[in-house]
Amino acid sequence: MRKLHAAITGVHAWVPGYRLTNDELATMVDTSDEWIMQRIGIKERRILKGEHGTSYMGARAVRGLLEKTGTSPDDVDMLLCATVTPDRLFPATSNIICDKVGIKNAWGYDVNAACSGFLFTLQTAAEFVESGKYKKVVVVGADKMSAITDYTDRTTCPLFGDAAAAVLLEPTEEEVGVMDHIFHVDGSGRKYLYMKAGGSLRPPSHETVENREHFVYQDGKVVFKFAVSRMADVSVEMMKKHDLTPETLDWLVPHQANMRIIEATAKRMGLPREKVMINIQNYGNTTTATIPLCLYEWEDKLKKGDNLILAAFGGGFTWGSLYLKWAYDGKNRK
Ligand code: UT7
Repeated sequence: MRKLHAAITGVHAWVPGYRLTNDELATMVDTSDEWIMQRIGIKERRILKGEHGTSYMGARAVRGLLEKTGTSPDDVDMLLCATVTPDRLFPATSNIICDKVGIKNAWGYDVNAACSGFLFTLQTAAEFVESGKYKKVVVVGADKMSAITDYTDRTTCPLFGDAAAAVLLEPTEEEVGVMDHIFHVDGSGRKYLYMKAGGSLRPPSHETVENREHFVYQDGKVVFKFAVSRMADVSVEMMKKHDLTPETLDWLVPHQANMRIIEATAKRMGLPREKVMINIQNYGNTTTATIPLCLYEWEDKLKKGDNLILAAFGGGFTWGSLYLKWAYDGKNRK
């Protein structure tokens, strides 16, 4: 039997309606549209209002995915959810999404790899599919970053937004799908991007709340430096490993954290801007949702056999690149 590949056979996304603009942010902290556009490249981000958690968005993305691919919830074998903002510490948000969508014959769990979460989870799911035992696996990246963003801290609050996006993975004997990955973690980077309290090391208390320790903390300069070099390193390494050139590589799908990081990565790879998926201006950094949200927005331009490199860098540190051959003509599939 020929080797099975795990192919993405559908993609869908859901974003909240509320648009938090730079001008509105400037009424909350000392910042400006000009600074945010120059240093980060974000114009607005979506915010989930009301008493809803991450599963609310994840379920909407997954429901849409199943509808558009004609997949019955009964036929899904597994659902994995990448998130850093689970509804609760437990149970897993993947379970809650399954329940909301009516997926009853599957199992799954959450994966936490910060901004590399979607990539790490996609590879994990691909291994299940390649084993031959799993026919339909859903991978959803969902994050309600507004729940852990400190809107009194101007150094982090412009960065993040809320979104969810999901892909369906199915086995194929064709030479398409997830082809390769180069992933890394370096736990010594944990002090530069993390949430100070809320876990077992520092459980929630009056003190942690008063000290605003339940929000994203970031040493932006250090993270920026690592992100630029590491994301580009693994992407260039992947190109070399598979003899991909700026001509034969069709798309770079980068994690959307900062426009300058995306541009630096594309430059190191020798890629022109039109081969890079960029929507950071509309959504900001939605952590695990950035990459599938790009795939969703570019779906109608993607053709069967297209060569894609997906690349991310995130808290942990975690980073990596994944080489994907697109499995279908996306035109008119949206
Ligand atoms: O997805 C996970 C990975 N995360 C990332 O990749 C993010 C990486 N880091 C970054 O993207 C950037 O470091 C930031 C966008 C977070 C910050 O940009 P920067 O160019 O590194 O700015 P900075 O922190 O060096 O700050 C420059 C100046 C400072 O003022 P002084 O000290 O020079 O007077 C800041 O206080 O800009 C000031 N500043 C702001 N000014 C207006 C910081 N935030 C703001 C703001 N509005 N929102």
